[in-house]
Amino acid sequence: MHPSSAPLPPTLVVIPTYDEREALPGTLARLRAAVPGADVLVVDDSSPDGTGDWAEDAARRDRAVHVLHRAGKQGLGPAYLAGFAWGLERGYAQLVEMDADASHRPEQLPALLEAVRRGADLAIGSRWVPGGAVHDWPRRRQLLSRGANLYVRALMGLGVSDATAGFRVFQADLLRSLIDADVASQGYCFQVDMTRRAREAGAVIAEVPIDFDERTEGASKMSSGIVREALVRVTLWGFARRTQQVRGALG
Ligand code: GDD
Ligand code: MN
Repeated sequence: MHPSSAPLPPTLVVIPTYDEREALPGTLARLRAAVPGADVLVVDDSSPDGTGDWAEDAARRDRAVHVLHRAGKQGLGPAYLAGFAWGLERGYAQLVEMDADASHRPEQLPALLEAVRRGADLAIGSRWVPGGAVHDWPRRRQLLSRGANLYVRALMGLGVSDATAGFRVFQADLLRSLIDADVASQGYCFQVDMTRRAREAGAVIAEVPIDFDERTEGASKMSSGIVREALVRVTLWGFARRTQQVRGALG
């Protein structure tokens, strides 16, 4: 896709961090080079490795960079909700989700922004559509992601190939309507939760193929607790949907 030359609407890239001191500097430099017009908000959960301090220094050097400090590790969902609230209060027109470890190539963000410019309310950077790819991910992580997406598809029927993806652009108006209600997801099923809410809101969702690179610095925060929460919530959402369908058929 050829990125347009139209001026960028006010854009905030929200990057949640926990112990990303090694990975964040490179990601941030690539992001600032790839989309110089976008502001950045790092949401750090008091990383013991000093990520928050480094981000403070970066914010002093670069006016486009901001930092939100949170008291302790509270999960991906709450970090994003805090970052979104910060950005919506300040009037950004679109808000971006991106990991700190450069698994999401900043150079591919323009393609997502272009999808929103063309009318999508939500653009998802997708690994599991034609043209999308995963590079150097361990086989068990690939299986976990494929399996999670198959399960989500079977139970929830969201019509999205990568419902757990963490590289996204939300139109501010859609996002505001989605987070009015109370979003309880803590871990990576936050992504499924937001996809579900966007679908229920009737949003136009575009999946844009991306290359997902395994991180070269730091470590993943994926845990058995995160898998368990996703399994439980997706199952409950799936059953709630089935119940609604049966009620609809009977009534
Ligand atoms: N503030 C904060 N608090 N940040 C967190 C927390 C937390 O509790 N947990 C994770 N993060 C940050 C990490 O520092 C990183 O920037 C980003 O969230 C993603 O975490 P990773 O640990 O790198 O995730 P992953 O590579 O295992 O998982 C990827 O795939 C998942 C499943 O498809 C990501 O793209 C996820 O977003 C995605 O859901
Ligand atoms: Mn990662």
